[in-house]
Amino acid sequence: MGTTAPTVKDNRVKLLERAMSRQGYASHALIEVLHTAQELFGYLSVDLLKDVAKKLKLPPSRVLGVATFYNFFSLKPKAEHTALVCTGTACYVAGAKDLLEASEHRCKRALAKGETPKLTVQQARCIGSCGLAPAVVLDGGILPRVTKAELEKKLDDLGV
Ligand code: FES
Repeated sequence: MGTTAPTVKDNRVKLLERAMSRQGYASHALIEVLHTAQELFGYLSVDLLKDVAKKLKLPPSRVLGVATFYNFFSLKPKAEHTALVCTGTACYVAGAKDLLEASEHRCKRALAKGETPKLTVQQARCIGSCGLAPAVVLDGGILPRVTKAELEKKLDDLGV
């Protein structure tokens, strides 16, 4: 997964261009194009969004609005590790708030020390595994019915 800014020689720019061209640069393909861009670059930089706006002939404010509205789009580069904490009803009732706080605390602690957090914390409203509540997806692997202590241990093991 790459997180660097696009350059002219960057092959990912070409791939994104191809994806837009396949859609005939149609403005209604915006969400699909943003999905492709995020898959290619790992996140959506403001420059990238402006470029997409230009190509799809949309106001940049509209593109930025869409990118910030949906929580599956990320405008910041991701850290080395990612914790997606489900805060849907079942998970919330089962203690997701504590899991979220424990995860966010790691980032705050790193920032307080002047370090770049090694963890990106994201929230989802339901990841479709309510029977496993509370659930956290840590680096792509689901932690079912996870307790705060178990999550803390996993994060310690990752060194975040
Ligand atoms: S509410 Fe968390 S998986 Fe459904």
